[in-house]
Amino acid sequence: MFPVDKFQDTRTPFYYYDTQLLRETLKTINEESGKHANYHVHYAVKANANQKILHIISQYGLGADCVSGGEIKAALEAGFPVDSIVYAGVGKSDWEIELGLQNDIACFNVESIAELEVINDLAQKHGKKARVAFRINPNIGAHTHANITTGLAENKFGIAMQDMDKVIDEAQTMANVEVIGLHFHIGSQILDMGDFKALCNRINDLQSQLAKRNVFVQNINVGGGLGVSYDNPDREPIPDFKDYFNTYATHLRLRNDQQLHFELGRSVVAQCGSLITRLLYVKQGSYKQFAIVDAGMTDLIRPALYQALHKIQNISSDEPNETYDVVGPICESSDVFAKAIDLNRCHRGDLLAIRSAGAYGEIMASGYNCRPLPEGYISEEFR
Ligand code: LLP
Repeated sequence: MFPVDKFQDTRTPFYYYDTQLLRETLKTINEESGKHANYHVHYAVKANANQKILHIISQYGLGADCVSGGEIKAALEAGFPVDSIVYAGVGKSDWEIELGLQNDIACFNVESIAELEVINDLAQKHGKKARVAFRINPNIGAHTHANITTGLAENKFGIAMQDMDKVIDEAQTMANVEVIGLHFHIGSQILDMGDFKALCNRINDLQSQLAKRNVFVQNINVGGGLGVSYDNPDREPIPDFKDYFNTYATHLRLRNDQQLHFELGRSVVAQCGSLITRLLYVKQGSYKQFAIVDAGMTDLIRPALYQALHKIQNISSDEPNETYDVVGPICESSDVFAKAIDLNRCHRGDLLAIRSAGAYGEIMASGYNCRPLPEGYISEEFR
């Protein structure tokens, strides 16, 4: 599956992206979302902003969901149409708002009254009218890691439900904003469709509440969050988009002319990416053996930050399995990719693939310990 021979001359660690799988995933998303009238999928740029990846995604007609001025620039450079760009974020700086206004992006997802006032002022200054959606905090938990739950009242995200009416009233007094939607996002790596169903029920309630006041918004944006199989990337390379979209079709009540927007990140790119790392040393500890590799938490921080378990394979060896802790070279005890896992017997120089690393991998890399950032290559570059 990996062109191991062709990897030999490439400096490790690096990210490898299987573009055939990426394309198949995008095709599935388009087929499954296309079965529902009025569904629009945006790609959450935060998951992976490698230009080569962004460019492929933009070719499939997805919009872009951005959370910073830098991401808006990256999306524009990759060819996403401006009118498909939505911009969320709890702390937008003035220059970022101005960048969005100057480019006439599709929508600002607004997270507070204070932010709404700044957007209105800046829009007035530039002679623009900003389209806005209110990000509502629906106070819904998700069955995922606490660090990636976003829709609870205790989280910093979104406007509290009880303030929704007030915010909408306030916006109606402002000359340079136009309210076009409501936005939600309850968390990430969600595999229990019941969580999305709970979100649908909450949105139905909020919409009925608004209807009583004769407020009708054109767009509902339900964010992203669909999870992937980290245990079995080969058995489940493409997430169950059919079930995901059907969950919304079954439970969310939309008016005929209402548009439903999604912001999918992980489910689009996670499975097509692997972090390729070289084995430096096998070290015998007092009661275990360590496979010390040249990638560390600086290249892939998910195991250290969220206790994420990525499947690891020795792609250079087919010798019998032995048990290893796979660790990196960083001076931190949390620089561990996996404990007590079986790998084909390891030797210095072997290449290991850390799987399902296409989302929140390369983009979260840092230069801690003065390490260079890993490169990202697409499969075409190894032909
Ligand atoms: N929309 C909003 C407003 C978001 O905050 C996020 C992710 C998404 C969409 C995309 O969610 P996805 O479809 O990828 O689940 N670094 C963490 C994940 C952080 C997610 C942040 N927000 C990780 O590696 O698990």
